[in-house]
Formats: sequence, C-alpha cells, structure tokens
Amino acid sequence: TAQEETPAPATETEDEPITIGFSQVGAESDWRVANTESMKGTLTQENGFNLIFADAQQKQENQIKAVRDFISQEVDVIVIAPVTETGWETVLGEAKDAEIPVIIVDRMIDVSDDSLYTCWVGSDFYQEGLDAVTWLTGYMDSLGKGSDALNVAVLQGTIGSSAEIGRTKGVRDGLAKHSNYQIVLEQTGEFTQAKGQEVMESFLKSGERIDILIAQNDNMAFGAIDALKAVGKKPAEDVVIVSFDAVKAAFESMIAGEMNVSVECNPLHGPRVAELAKAIMKGETVEKIQYVDEGVYPADTAAQILPERAY
Ligand code: AHR
Repeated sequence: TAQEETPAPATETEDEPITIGFSQVGAESDWRVANTESMKGTLTQENGFNLIFADAQQKQENQIKAVRDFISQEVDVIVIAPVTETGWETVLGEAKDAEIPVIIVDRMIDVSDDSLYTCWVGSDFYQEGLDAVTWLTGYMDSLGKGSDALNVAVLQGTIGSSAEIGRTKGVRDGLAKHSNYQIVLEQTGEFTQAKGQEVMESFLKSGERIDILIAQNDNMAFGAIDALKAVGKKPAEDVVIVSFDAVKAAFESMIAGEMNVSVECNPLHGPRVAELAKAIMKGETVEKIQYVDEGVYPADTAAQILPERAY
C-alpha cells in the first residue's frame, strides 16, 4: 500500500550510530597511546558509533577549538580527556547551550558548576601518589634503610593536569609522615621520555645526592633511567626508581632490573565510555563520578604479570 512505501521518518532509533567527538590530550606516553587504542577500538561502527577523533598535542587551546568544531558538527556526545583541570567553563557552557552531553575521561576538570559535564570516569591520582609512598617506605624498611636520611627527586607530569596535581599531593602528603625523606629536586618532564631524560640529566648535574627518583609516569622514568646509565649509575640499585602507569615496557624494565615499582593507572576507558554514551543517549541517569580499580606492581611481580598485560 501507499502507506507501506512511505519512508520511515528520520528520527533517532536505537540502531542509529551515536556520533562522538573525542578530544584526546595527545600521544605523549605509552599510556596515552593505549588509551587512544582503547577508545578507537571500542567506539567503532560495528559497535554503533561514529567517532570523530582530535589529537590536541598536549595543548588545551587545541582542545577548546576541537570542542567548538564538535558543537558546530552537532555531534551526539562530546568526550574530553582534558590536558589541564582549569579553563573549561566557557566552552562547556557552549556545549550545554547546544544541549550536547559531555563525558570527561581520565583527568578531571575543575569547574564551579558541575552541570557543565554529564559524568567523569578516570583514576584517583591522589591515591596513586599515596600508594607509591606506602610501597616505597615499606621497601626502604625491607632494605634496612628506612630510618636513613633519604633524598627524593620528583619528575612531575604536565603541570596543572589532574595526574600531576594528584600524584604530587599524594606523594607529598605520604612523605610528610616520614621526616627522614626529603624532596630535594622537583621539576616537570611533561610526561614524555625525552623531557624526562633531559630533566634527569640536569638533576644529576645539580650535585644533589639522589637516593630515590619518583617519576610521575613510566615514560619519564625510562628517560631518567637512560640518563642514570649514561653517568654510570645503576638504576633501581644506586637510585630507587618509583614510577606510575604500569605499561608493558615498565614490566620489561623491572624484569631487566632497572625499575623498582610502577603504580598502575588504567587507560582502558573505551568500553566504559561506550557504555556511558549509550546510556546517556537512551536518557538514562549515569553515575556522575566513577573511579577505576588500580594496583601496585613491584619488580618481583613483573615476570608473572607481563604475559597477560593488555597495555
Ligand atoms: O592522565 C594520565 C597520565 O597521562 C598518565 O600517567 C601519563 O602517562 C599520561 O600522559
């Protein structure tokens, strides 16, 4: 009949793909690459998504521009892995005016009005910092050095990012309970291996004795390890190496005897974001804040864990 031949109206159905605009920080670390793979691997056409991916090259201004592009393209959902915590009010106000839901992933944002985003999923970076110190002090005790005067150097991540803010505070608060531990050097290595190496070289030239290095991600630790080896120091022996992320290469480094511990930061957010986006599009209420579970991996666990490590 004529009625059967009439095409269905172009309203949204459950089968219609969800268009997601994702503004990613960049490709600064193994962690970030794994995070991008998780997002791209999950937000596929087969899974009901149409993904528009924008790499911000570690610059918030590029993220703001990307979000504006997503708004003008009328995407269904905006996903942001923010470089820094502050500076989001204006552009998120524009997304809200356009009635586009926003999922924040990995790092957090600092806004006075939390209706500017729908939900957040990521890591408890402060807890990671505390966990690193708990492991470190236990380890130094086990070596019989727990009461020595110990000098700590810290390679920080991107200043103003949640990962840097949380880990810096967690480490400081943890160490504050042990008056024999002193942070003698602290500088950003921007979460990259090259910068981690460069800053470690300058730490070594400073003449300060370094007993412990806390690198706020594995890639900076890899750079620092190279800098130590270049001056004839044995990483993990002459200088205890504490790191974050627990990517595959960190396990290899621990097996090679060059790193002592890596505190996990889980990058596999793709499936979580997919589920949240689908729920939001169905009009369901989602949890506002969701932390992911994370562990602590000392060197003596590395050989056992590496074969099953997903990133
Ligand atoms: O925000 C997560 C952090 O960002 C990871 O620790 C680091 O490797 C990445 O660059």
